[in-house]
Amino acid sequence: MGSHMPAPVDPSELRAQCADVLDARDGGHFHGRPWLREAFLRVPREQFIPDRVWWPWPGKDGLHPVLDRTVRPREWMRAVYTAQASLITQVDDGRVRPEEGPTKAEFTSAASCPAVVVDMLHYLDPGPQDVVLEIGTGSGYSTALLAQRVRPANLVTMEIDTRLADLAREKLAGFGLRPTVVAGDAEQGHGERAPYTRIISTAAVRQVPQSWLLQAAPGAVIVVPLNGPFGHDALLRLVADGRGNGEGRLVSGVAFMKLRGQRRPVPYADLGWPAMGGPWPAYADAEYRVTVVRGRQEIQIC
Ligand SMILES: C[S@@+](CC[C@H](N)C(=O)[O-])C[C@H]1O[C@@H](n2cnc3c(N)ncnc32)[C@H](O)[C@@H]1O
Repeated sequence: MGSHMPAPVDPSELRAQCADVLDARDGGHFHGRPWLREAFLRVPREQFIPDRVWWPWPGKDGLHPVLDRTVRPREWMRAVYTAQASLITQVDDGRVRPEEGPTKAEFTSAASCPAVVVDMLHYLDPGPQDVVLEIGTGSGYSTALLAQRVRPANLVTMEIDTRLADLAREKLAGFGLRPTVVAGDAEQGHGERAPYTRIISTAAVRQVPQSWLLQAAPGAVIVVPLNGPFGHDALLRLVADGRGNGEGRLVSGVAFMKLRGQRRPVPYADLGWPAMGGPWPAYADAEYRVTVVRGRQEIQIC
């Protein structure tokens, strides 16, 4: 290598730096979850990210640029370990390819940003005995983190895009991880392995699917981004009663792509949201209580 060439970046060093960034933040993250920090340091995120991805923030032209590992490996690797950057892995359900360059097509799959992946797993807090259903396998990265904590026989992950499901299954197997990867519509859940004690969705919903509550054991924790009328999604942590009902609260603001069957907007009043005269209060200043009883979702601000 010529002396003018920059030294290659060391992914494990970047991973440790990224973990330090996550540690420094309040709230969820690794706080009180040593297993999660260890899992984060053990799983090479770069192996789950395709060589070409779109950057989540558009340039001045309004288009999302492509990061190409084969052209700018250092930039790509730094992006992989940027705590707040999700990397867009699919747009327009795969009809537009990264080889076609910058885009403004709709995002349909992404490797969620490390901060949010870790936050969601913090709130899910699975234990070694849990039976877990993950919705939205995507790159397989969050599944790999879960697989550090949950036995493969107790871990089901579902992805609606068959090609993505196959790729993730292959990548996970490459690390000796063999959860059940199901290609299919997770809005119906996966009854074969129910009841689940933990359910996590990495696609946002407008309405918590009743099938998830019906497949949840009593006391099961469900973590899912819930779309809200305040212009983004909010992370919902719901506890199921095992009879198809659930109760919980919104814990933080997030932004996710929608579950495929819930892309189309529905009036918020029909989804149990209250009418609001003034601005929506911050999560720290008010409790956004969410109940789902006999299929009826309701959000109250207390
Ligand atoms: C934010 S991405 C997944 C992030 C992933 N967990 C990761 O770490 O890379 C959301 C995924 O949900 C998938 N998805 C959307 N609707 C779905 C559905 N009804 N059933 C299963 N997967 C779905 C999308 O295809 C997409 O890959």
